[in-house]
Amino acid sequence: MKSVALFAIKGGVGKSTLAVNLAHAAATNGGRRTLLWDLDAQSAATFLLQREAPARARAREAFAEDSLESLIVHTNYPNLHILPADRSLRRLEGDLARDDRAKAIRHRLRDFTESYDRILIDCPPGLSELADRVFRAADLLVMPAVPSPLSGRATVQLHTELQRHHKGKPPLLPVWNMADKRRRLHRESVAAADWPVIPYSAAIEQMAVHRAPVAAFQPRGAAARAFADLWARVEAALLRTG
Ligand SMILES: Nc1ncnc2c1ncn2[C@@H]1O[C@H](COP(=O)(O)OP(=O)(O)OP(=O)(O)O)[C@@H](O)[C@H]1O
Ligand SMILES: [Mg+2]
Repeated sequence: MKSVALFAIKGGVGKSTLAVNLAHAAATNGGRRTLLWDLDAQSAATFLLQREAPARARAREAFAEDSLESLIVHTNYPNLHILPADRSLRRLEGDLARDDRAKAIRHRLRDFTESYDRILIDCPPGLSELADRVFRAADLLVMPAVPSPLSGRATVQLHTELQRHHKGKPPLLPVWNMADKRRRLHRESVAAADWPVIPYSAAIEQMAVHRAPVAAFQPRGAAARAFADLWARVEAALLRTG
C-alpha cells in the first residue's frame, strides 16, 4: 500500500479536485484498490463523490481504535472507497494537539495495508497539527499550485518545513493547476518549473454540478487526459519511494 496526500499551504488551489480525480484514475485506469480519505471538515471531496456526510458525524472516530471499517463506504465506481469527512473533524486539530501519539495517521494507514493498494488523503490547507501527522505518514505529497510567482514561494516554504522538521520527507510533487495558456503570467510560471500541468477547464468546474470525477462524465476530454497523465507521474514518483 502506498499513500499520497494532497497538500498545500494555500487554500483553494485544487487539492480536493485533484484528490477525487486522482483517486478515480488510480481505481479505474490503474485498477488499484483505492481509498480516498477525506480529512477536511469542509468535506468537498466527499461531496464531489456524491456521498452525503453521515447523519451521525463520526469521521473523527477514524483515530480511535477499531472503528475504521464501519466508517468506509463504497462509491459509484469500482475499486474506489471513501472514508468521508464530516463536521466532527473540526475538533481534530485540538485532539491532535493534545495527543502525544505523533504517528496517529501512520498507525491508521498501517491498518489499511491489506485492504488497499493506494490511499489518497485530502487535507485542509495550511501547516497544522494535522499536516505534521500527514507528513509523518504519507509516501508522497502532491501539491497543486496556481501558476504565479507566489506559488514558487509557497513551494519553497513547504520544502523548508519538510527539511527542517521531517528530514526532507515525504517527497514533494508540485503540480500546476488551473493553468491558462492565454495568460502571460501563467505561461511564464509554467515555463519556469517543469511540473505536471492541469489546465484551467470548464469541465473540471462542472464536477461540482455532476458530483463526479471529470473522467466519469467527459472521459475523452483534455481534463480527463491530464488527470490520467498526472496519475502516471504519481505512480512513477511512488515507485521511486521504494
Ligand atoms: N483545473 C481547474 N479548472 C477549473 N476549475 C478548477 C480547477 N481546479 C480546481 N478548480 C475549482 O477551484 C475551486 C477550488 O478547488 P478545490 O476545492 O479543489 O481547492 P482546495 O485546494 O481543495 O480548496 P480548500 O483549500 O478550500 O480545501 C473549485 O471551485 C474547483 O472547482
Ligand atoms: Mg479542499
